[in-house]
Amino acid sequence: MATRAPQRSARTSPERALPDQGELVRVGEQARDFEFTSADFARIRELIHRSAGISLSDHKRDMAYSRLARRLRARGLDTFKQYLDLLEAENDPAEWEAFTNALTTNLTAFFREAHHFPILADFVPRRAQPVSVWCSAASTGEEPYSIAMTLIEALGESGARQASVLATDIDTQVLAKAEAGMYQFDQVKHLSPERLKRFFLKGTGAHAGMVKVRPEVRAMVRFEQLNLTDRDYQLRSQFDAIFCRNVMIYFDKPTQAQVLARFEPLMKSGGLLFAGHSENFTYVTQAFKLRGQTVYELTRDATGVRTPSRAPASAAHHTTGGVTV
Ligand SMILES: C[S@@+](CC[C@H](N)C(=O)[O-])C[C@H]1O[C@@H](n2cnc3c(N)ncnc32)[C@H](O)[C@@H]1O
Repeated sequence: MATRAPQRSARTSPERALPDQGELVRVGEQARDFEFTSADFARIRELIHRSAGISLSDHKRDMAYSRLARRLRARGLDTFKQYLDLLEAENDPAEWEAFTNALTTNLTAFFREAHHFPILADFVPRRAQPVSVWCSAASTGEEPYSIAMTLIEALGESGARQASVLATDIDTQVLAKAEAGMYQFDQVKHLSPERLKRFFLKGTGAHAGMVKVRPEVRAMVRFEQLNLTDRDYQLRSQFDAIFCRNVMIYFDKPTQAQVLARFEPLMKSGGLLFAGHSENFTYVTQAFKLRGQTVYELTRDATGVRTPSRAPASAAHHTTGGVTV
């Protein structure tokens, strides 16, 4: 595949290319280095839906442009069409990874949606030990570390040492950051002084203004890449709790239903599923029943028999989940 260095002045729209006067763009629109057509955007939407289950809505067009323009520059390409042709033709896993990483949204925070953590703290001491928790859209690590900290608070240092947190995400870049466990102090300043002291080390010198999650907390968390839309997650153990927060919102309803069906056999009897604030699985599945604010419980007992669910799957059209983002 022949590639050329990006030409910043190569613009195809005649009314935009006015070399003597600079570029004219519509009010409120940014100047663009690369031609980006509706067909390109439609293709991007199709590809990211196919590879990661993500439904990109119309208003993500500028975001898609700016994030993928970096890939065009990195590959020395002139047009989005060239880039998308290359992506599909070469089947290069590294480029697919970069494409996916570019289009994920990774917003997260320590103890985000704080009401979930006391529920987890109350739940885990009542479970057969050691407990295991899966954080299935871990992003940059704040969520799985918050889970590990909660396990330490609930089980004590020695109890928590047996416990484990599996933290997965599709995005390899955020996983690398998560594994490093380094954050700006600003990201933890809302935590109590007790939590700060117990769970973080303060950076000095070149790391002033940063904090690092203490090694004993990091040791409880194992990071791995996992695509929730894969048919087989290759996970051979079961979990007491699964956190799947603020990721299903990016998936359409059939994808949500498939993911929930894959969670079911991975959950120990009576296990809890934690969802994000705007995610509602009630009408997507019968396998989990709503137990509290965005917390679901598996409707299967130890013998594998399902306990009656309150939500009929036939009401599937009433859901608020499955919106595009
Ligand atoms: C908005 S963040 C939510 C992070 C965290 N769960 C929270 O609630 O703070 C969504 C995460 O889902 C991940 N993601 C998107 N599609 C995914 C997929 N198909 N499989 C696994 N993770 C995915 C993104 O990479 C991103 O890190």
